[in-house]
Amino acid sequence: MRVFVTRRLPVDPAEVLSEHEVEVWPEDGPPPAAVLREKAEHADALLTLLSDRVDGALYDAAPKLQVVANYAVGFDNIDVPGARERGIWVTNTPGVLTDATADLAFTLLLAVARRLPEAEALARTGDFGHWSPTAFLGLELHGAQLGILGFGAIGRAVARRARAFGMRVRYHTRSEVPEAEREGAEPMGWDALLESSDVLSIHAPLTDQTRGLVDADALARMKEGALLINTARGPIVDEAALAAALESGPLGGAGLDVFEEEPRVHPALLERQDVVLTPHVGSATTAARRRMAQTALRNIAAVLAGDEPPDPIPGSRAPE
Ligand code: DGY
Repeated sequence: MRVFVTRRLPVDPAEVLSEHEVEVWPEDGPPPAAVLREKAEHADALLTLLSDRVDGALYDAAPKLQVVANYAVGFDNIDVPGARERGIWVTNTPGVLTDATADLAFTLLLAVARRLPEAEALARTGDFGHWSPTAFLGLELHGAQLGILGFGAIGRAVARRARAFGMRVRYHTRSEVPEAEREGAEPMGWDALLESSDVLSIHAPLTDQTRGLVDADALARMKEGALLINTARGPIVDEAALAAALESGPLGGAGLDVFEEEPRVHPALLERQDVVLTPHVGSATTAARRRMAQTALRNIAAVLAGDEPPDPIPGSRAPE
């Protein structure tokens, strides 16, 4: 059977899918939509990235398609109900990038709290003048409140890290989290979380409910000097409103790995010293990216063998 993989992976797909004919898009960027559609016409399986749009038009062009395996835990690039209607499985890569992404969220948190870009830039001048009791004062994490929006695997992994730093951790999520899985954190309403957190870190999926949730109104309710960290999905935060809240208050800094219109970063954020920017690299450890590849490829192998995939996205189960 034929498999189209939209980018080179850190694992050779042919090793896992040796019984199948695998084509890998050889370029660094994503295949143009027209090329993806053309490849999908003959494909039994697609391995896609978060930058590949998988929609009804693509499914309609792909009469043999059985599975779309997304190389990500998020799947907002995929029309899941459309796949379900057509009996196509959609899978993701849960679990394997949890620690890598939580590490990056905490890296950003520390970097913003301790004003790393400004301090590093000064040290790089080769002469930072005098040691000063008042220079580069940042947020002490011990005793500060971390608010976590979204308390799935990554949110909980961030909570574990925060606890080790002596932070008070609160979270807001739609579902009930059993006590044993709360990592010492306490649930809180969205408004209270916004108003009381020293740092707000976003770990929710992009849905109709979360798109634009952190808008001008929400940002205005945050504490004076509060920090915002986003390693989830860019469109959850209104970037123009964020830039305004950094410029005129109340925000004191932001750490962003994801952006509203990737790969573009809002120009008003680019010049700011109180913002740390990374180019969507939350899962970018060698080990996590290899596990993501193995997971996505195993899902494809299972479906092409006539089995249920190990990681179906809820609601994407193919009709009987
Ligand atoms: C994901 O998995 O959803 C990330 O954004 C990419 O690693």
